[in-house]
Amino acid sequence: MCGIVGYAGRRDAAPLIIEGLKRLEYRGYDSFGVATLGSGIELVKHQGRISGYAGSAHQLHGKTGIGHTRWATHGIPNDANAHPHLDCTNRIAVVHNGIIENFSSLKRDLISRGHRFRSDTDTEVVVHLLEEAYAKEHDILVAVQNTVPLLKGSFALLVIVADDNRLIAARNQSPLVIGIGDGENFAASDMTPVIEYTERAIFLEDGDVASLKPDSVEIFHDKIPVTRPVELIDWSPEAAKKGGFSHFMMKEIYEQPKAFFDTLNAIDTDVLPPAARHPSSVTVLACGSSYHAGLIFRYLVEESCGIPARLEFASEFKYFPPPVEGLVIGITQSGETADTLTALRQAKAHNCTTLAITNVLGSSVSRIADATLFMRAGPEISVAATKSFVAQLAVLMQIMNAWAGRRWAGVLQHAHQSIEDVLHIDLSAAVSLCVPAKSIFYVGRGPFYAVSLEGALKMKEISYIHAEGYAAGELKHGPFALLSTETPVIAICMPGETYGVMISNIKEMKARGAPVIALGCEGDSELPDIVDVFIPVPETHRFVQVLTTLVVLQLLAFYTAVALGRDVDKPRNLAKSVTVE
Ligand code: G6P
Repeated sequence: MCGIVGYAGRRDAAPLIIEGLKRLEYRGYDSFGVATLGSGIELVKHQGRISGYAGSAHQLHGKTGIGHTRWATHGIPNDANAHPHLDCTNRIAVVHNGIIENFSSLKRDLISRGHRFRSDTDTEVVVHLLEEAYAKEHDILVAVQNTVPLLKGSFALLVIVADDNRLIAARNQSPLVIGIGDGENFAASDMTPVIEYTERAIFLEDGDVASLKPDSVEIFHDKIPVTRPVELIDWSPEAAKKGGFSHFMMKEIYEQPKAFFDTLNAIDTDVLPPAARHPSSVTVLACGSSYHAGLIFRYLVEESCGIPARLEFASEFKYFPPPVEGLVIGITQSGETADTLTALRQAKAHNCTTLAITNVLGSSVSRIADATLFMRAGPEISVAATKSFVAQLAVLMQIMNAWAGRRWAGVLQHAHQSIEDVLHIDLSAAVSLCVPAKSIFYVGRGPFYAVSLEGALKMKEISYIHAEGYAAGELKHGPFALLSTETPVIAICMPGETYGVMISNIKEMKARGAPVIALGCEGDSELPDIVDVFIPVPETHRFVQVLTTLVVLQLLAFYTAVALGRDVDKPRNLAKSVTVE
């Protein structure tokens, strides 16, 4: 959580940093701040969002600076807890993404040595420790190198000190990338603030400390100079802009046919490690939407490939690890979710072969896993996952395709067309039923149960309407007590073995007064007569039906949230990348 960005160059740093922070707001947006090397350290920080901000931070002087957009962990969102934080002399400024786990004892010691704290954050201990180290060493790079070993936990740190034009960056288990420009260099949580200026990137390793000046980047590990490869990032700057859409989420929903197609065709399953080529079983670890992608995979791989699959919340796996062996797949669009990273490390410790699926080149998960398959969704800015989810499914379906002797190659190559077909579906009648609802149930069976979980998650996170996904047969074991004329049920009812029983379930719900919105195949002769709103999707292969029903539910959540006037791209209390447990 939290986004950080730093600049060392020849242009005014503050406007560049402010623009960069706007791109990183998906990581947190409860407060922000900027510090530059002007006349001494110049600092502006505020509670609230940086988007739409037109205040005095733009006027800060200096060609070197750092900025931060926050998702609060230690201390409420207010001006004092916003980063950057200053030392007692007001000469050193620090921004931080991550958590300093031993901050309490460090803080106690620092206070006993006379330091004054101005915030409730864990981060502030770092800047006071730097103050002591700098007083001894008179060199900010050495001060950072000497301070980092005192810190336990995860951190990406950016540091500046008055009267020194260097920007110092340090990384341990939180993402940090350096953008190599022409006469200017950047450091940021990811490349989205940087792709406008350069495509050349260095992903720091855990334990690295870097010193950036306009014309040079030096990297040290254990104080020894090291070189790290320069990678080319081909995300276009336009991809991180709205491009005429009202919301990033809408743009990203519309980018899904391309995200699916590009990802599908970028995945080379021939490079899978041997244990991932013909596994006898597979375990999937993930959180949030990625967990739902894993659940879809679990159903499909068992049904279509006959391979036993198990799925675990990464957050549970750490504390209650089941016996695990063979192939373990970690799914994480950001590549930085703390729980997923920890769970994969544990799986490795059990001698499992680990395969990561992520959207972000250079992300932490790709350093942990034995092999990584990268999605090609491009930057996803809206907090609610959409195109990254569909791209995860592209990877997972391509893996299943490889395991099944490429049986579905033709189907998958045309799947993006069916996604395209549902983008313009008229959902106004369904939206009218959802907007006044206090609670909505989503039901399906098999992989469509997993789709219903994801549909409900989208609805709750962006519309703030309580929404629950249920296996259709389970609704009668309790939730029926909640059904009324004001509780819409969204049922996914596709042809196949469960069609008949889904129809019975829908009738049971109707008998209890619930308005039913049903997603079914075009040409269905029964559903339109028994439900309140029928939403037809193309009659295609099962894999593709998963995709089309999912996209319809994303759109339904989006239109409902817009009708309710919600902040769709930045829902309250959430963040896109959850780098804390
Ligand atoms: C957060 C995001 C979700 C995402 C989840 C897991 O909660 O808001 O959209 O699904 O983290 O993220 P990951 O990067 O591991 O897929």
